[in-house]
Amino acid sequence: MNSINRRSILLAGLGAAGAGALAACTNSGSAPALVSPSGSAVAATEKRRGGTGRQHKIALTAAPARVDLGGGVKANTWAFDGRTPGKEIRLSTGDTLVAELANQLPGKTTTSIHWHGIALRNDMDGAPPATQTAVRPGSTFTYRFVADAPGTYFFHPHVGVQLDRGLYAPLIVEDPREPLAYDDEWVVVLDDWVDGVTGTPDEVFAELKQGMGGMDMSGSPFMLMGAESDLLGGDAGDVKYPYHLVNGRVPDDPDVYTGKPGRKVRLRIINAGSDTAYRVALSGHTMTVTHTDGFPIQHQRTDALLIGMGERYDVLVTLADGVFPLVALAEGKKTSGLALVRTGSGRAPTAAVRPRELDGTVMTASRLRAADDVRLESATADVTHRIELTGGMMHYNWAINGKPFDMADPDANAILVEEGRRARLDFVNTTTMWHPMHLHGHTFQLGRSGPRKDTAIVLPKKKLSVFFDADNPGQWMLHCHNAYHGEAGMMATVAYQA
Ligand code: C2O
Ligand code: CU
Repeated sequence: MNSINRRSILLAGLGAAGAGALAACTNSGSAPALVSPSGSAVAATEKRRGGTGRQHKIALTAAPARVDLGGGVKANTWAFDGRTPGKEIRLSTGDTLVAELANQLPGKTTTSIHWHGIALRNDMDGAPPATQTAVRPGSTFTYRFVADAPGTYFFHPHVGVQLDRGLYAPLIVEDPREPLAYDDEWVVVLDDWVDGVTGTPDEVFAELKQGMGGMDMSGSPFMLMGAESDLLGGDAGDVKYPYHLVNGRVPDDPDVYTGKPGRKVRLRIINAGSDTAYRVALSGHTMTVTHTDGFPIQHQRTDALLIGMGERYDVLVTLADGVFPLVALAEGKKTSGLALVRTGSGRAPTAAVRPRELDGTVMTASRLRAADDVRLESATADVTHRIELTGGMMHYNWAINGKPFDMADPDANAILVEEGRRARLDFVNTTTMWHPMHLHGHTFQLGRSGPRKDTAIVLPKKKLSVFFDADNPGQWMLHCHNAYHGEAGMMATVAYQA
């Protein structure tokens, strides 16, 4: 059977009972049959998750909105319920989220919600066309799944470059037996912002797609040249953003966290950006890094940390007395986002403040170790896949293994795994740019003892091996979380065989 036939069976099976059996039985050619997102293997895995039985019901409307970014800056964008970031969702481990998405986006704009980082049932992953049909304007779709791992997550659409609109919000899964001791927490969402200020993400993508060959860069409204970072191995990013936001605010009019000196606060830092890594520091404080991408690590102290698109870091700080800037420096881009911590009197710093901690030790995932209770015991794999990251700016042909992802034929880029096996992915970055590679539905481990993550930075010309247990059957996207690289084609599916 060719891949188009297999795909149409998968799609036809969505919503139809018994689709898994159908997909499993019709394998006649050399291509293996794949687990259907709505099939019995997915349902069985969800059943094993069990859960508390408690339901958390919410409604989300994706619609055009005029949002206030502070400092007199207003922007026409698309947002959930008129605000950006959208309202945080908070669950307790094992609870079922029931979220009804209403699509009120303009024209023919379809959408979806992807629950980034959550190991959920495949048919609720919100990745059209692999796991569902995109939600049409004027219609609704209800997501319903058990969230069984505590941690810091977020959600966003998985259609086109909608990630670079205002359509994102934090998703926090609390641990009822939280082992960390702290007094309070503060969710810090970072975002690079263009929409409704200098143009739209679709316009940005249209310009990037023309490639650099023969382009007159001086007249280019969206393309940023010369963003360089040693930490990122060279070219840091390619999109010119008029603003970098922390919790939806511009630096001139920042979000303020008010607390008391001596209190211990857990910061949950989320990079919801599309083309910007941030170097984050809180002036006057060292941070103790406790988690990345929801999972615990062996605690490490640092002055600053580097966070790529799609990554999350949790840190503990013990508050000092005064007013302190939390700065998210757009790595290699020379501009920054700002928020404030206020525990006493003092004047607020200017928008351009650059705490010296930014130039101290900068934590990166490669220096972290998984906590003992989440480390994958041995790093031996049953199957190894070489994932070459390919393409470049010249032709804007970002791809995996030289094949740009084709939405009409997702299986053409299928990376096959079998349930119950340990898989290893060797990311080999042949390009001259870094890529934050994200796998849906799983939390892989970096190397033998590195952190468990779902999004990992792969530096230019470098190789990164990650391991994961294939314990969540379905069809899962694997892609660069640079919204523009992913949309250009640096995307594949990790496909469970039936
Ligand atoms: Cu946060 Cu496939 O995405
Ligand atoms: Cu990329």
